[in-house]
Amino acid sequence: MRISVSFGAAMASSIAVCRLHMTGRGNLIKYLKQVNTLVKRNVGTNAVATISETPRKEETDEKDGPQSLNSLLAKRQEQAERSVLVSCLSKTNEKKFTKYLSKHGDINTCFFYESYGVYAVVEYANRESVASLMENAAFPSVSHESVVPFKSRLLSLRNISTSDPPDKGQLCQPQTTIPINELIQRLSREESIDQQVASLTKAYQLTEENIRLRFLVCSLLKDIAAAYFPECSIKPFGSSVNGFGKLGCDLDMFLDLDSISGIEARMPKTGLYVEYQMKGAHSERAVTQSILSVIGECVDQFGPGCVGMQKILNARCPLVRFAHQPSGFQCDLTANNRVAMKSTELLYLYGELDPRVRCLVFTVRCWARAHGITSSIPGAWITNFSLTVMVLFFLQKRTPPIIPTLDHLRDLAGPADKSVIEGNDCTFVSDFSMIQLQSNTETLEKLLSEFFEFYATFAFSRMSINIRKGREQKKPEVSPLHIQNPFENSLNVSKNVSAAQLDRFVAMCQESSWLLQQSETKSPSGTAGSSKATPWGLATLLLPSQVAGIKSRKKRRQEPASERIKSLLESLKTNNKQKKS
Ligand code: GTP
Ligand code: MG
Repeated sequence: MRISVSFGAAMASSIAVCRLHMTGRGNLIKYLKQVNTLVKRNVGTNAVATISETPRKEETDEKDGPQSLNSLLAKRQEQAERSVLVSCLSKTNEKKFTKYLSKHGDINTCFFYESYGVYAVVEYANRESVASLMENAAFPSVSHESVVPFKSRLLSLRNISTSDPPDKGQLCQPQTTIPINELIQRLSREESIDQQVASLTKAYQLTEENIRLRFLVCSLLKDIAAAYFPECSIKPFGSSVNGFGKLGCDLDMFLDLDSISGIEARMPKTGLYVEYQMKGAHSERAVTQSILSVIGECVDQFGPGCVGMQKILNARCPLVRFAHQPSGFQCDLTANNRVAMKSTELLYLYGELDPRVRCLVFTVRCWARAHGITSSIPGAWITNFSLTVMVLFFLQKRTPPIIPTLDHLRDLAGPADKSVIEGNDCTFVSDFSMIQLQSNTETLEKLLSEFFEFYATFAFSRMSINIRKGREQKKPEVSPLHIQNPFENSLNVSKNVSAAQLDRFVAMCQESSWLLQQSETKSPSGTAGSSKATPWGLATLLLPSQVAGIKSRKKRRQEPASERIKSLLESLKTNNKQKKS
């Protein structure tokens, strides 16, 4: 989530995921589709114990084609409300655990993960089961401290019998990405750049379990906010749900109070009626600030597992930031932030239109992070949001275009899609079947190298990036990088970016474009399948030594490419050694 101008997601590390084995473009497209749907489908994994035999609704919906973000959110929210989060003993016997919890009703899914201890997410088939479990939960017996008597769906498993044989422990689901060196090795074993891009996407994107956990955290927070506003909801937005989220990214949340004022009072045509007396404030912003301040205070004082709360109420978009320890998420809670919700919906729609969109965004985001072009610390860098808009713009500029312009999506909108927020037209089509795509068959390899070429030579000094029109326009202001906000047209989403940071981005694009043209880096060097593969293709673009080497691009061009790769490899080995020691 963005404070005034910039943002970030925490880079994380760990655990392996599976590898691709495939040949031919047909298979690749099939695979990309699988990668693409993972974020929205309720797929089972070997660690998600599906206890109920009833097919889940999400599975049966798959054949109906892509669903809108709003219907996806509604399903996930409902699923989260039937779920509990349980802190487990480090060696909990899974069978005993689920058997015990099943006393309160059928369990749909249960999985374990580690974050300052072992936790389980348990989704019941019915809400009544959650109520039954909570009714039977004991009050903590703490002799040395007092507790706030706030009962939540974050529970702890206790065991008073000492006769249980030790258990081997649970299979925990990863909640963080693999380290970059491990990713480079994995990519180096792939057989084409297209496969490398797909593999990177698969390794980095949010997992089914991580998405469930994100919705569960929103639902737990909603229970706190509901003490004041029973009809409220807390919705995730940004990369948690737009399809471009990487394991470890922050959890952006939106406290939605619209359903309160949205309830139409039954007003008589004539005669008496009553209305609520409500406290007035001098502006909408002041209301948002005071609500966030109070809810933030409650989260801080009463929310189990919520720590380090900061109120950042004077930002352009006021927010409260805190860490939710049991999930490991950095949380940003906002209110009255409907435009960001709309941008999330738009990004989600673009990601759904063609599997190459998501793959290219993941690759460019990962590449940018590896080279410090983006950062988790706010500053003069390009944000992930800006970078994503740049990729979308590039895809609109292909011949034929891979994705349509926002103006085109607005023209396809039906009456129900009409949306005006604070005077800004945020209308665009929600029915995916209305969107006709042009037939562009470019490979990811081609798109990746063309992306670098495109921005290596883009006229940043004169032109602005505009995904509404799908073409560059004269810059209306002097900022080094100008990306028109898709919905608030007078704003520049990259206003924070300094000339130096833009230069770094351009120089890295030039470097990467050049690297992808070298025969040594273009194809695998015969080590595919071996345990220690030589970096090639996309893996070469992620090598850390690139960051330092950027200054001397001219010199580097004169160097034979093989020498350059050798020195890159040497630096990778050195890095590995340093990491181990
Ligand atoms: P990461 O958290 O970095 O993974 O990406 P993110 O897309 O979640 O970005 P961030 O947390 O910075 O912001 C959350 C969401 O707020 C974005 O997805 C956008 O929808 C919206 N947003 C962020 N920055 C801007 C901005 O400058 N202008 C507008 N209109 N929306 C923004
Ligand atoms: Mg975010």
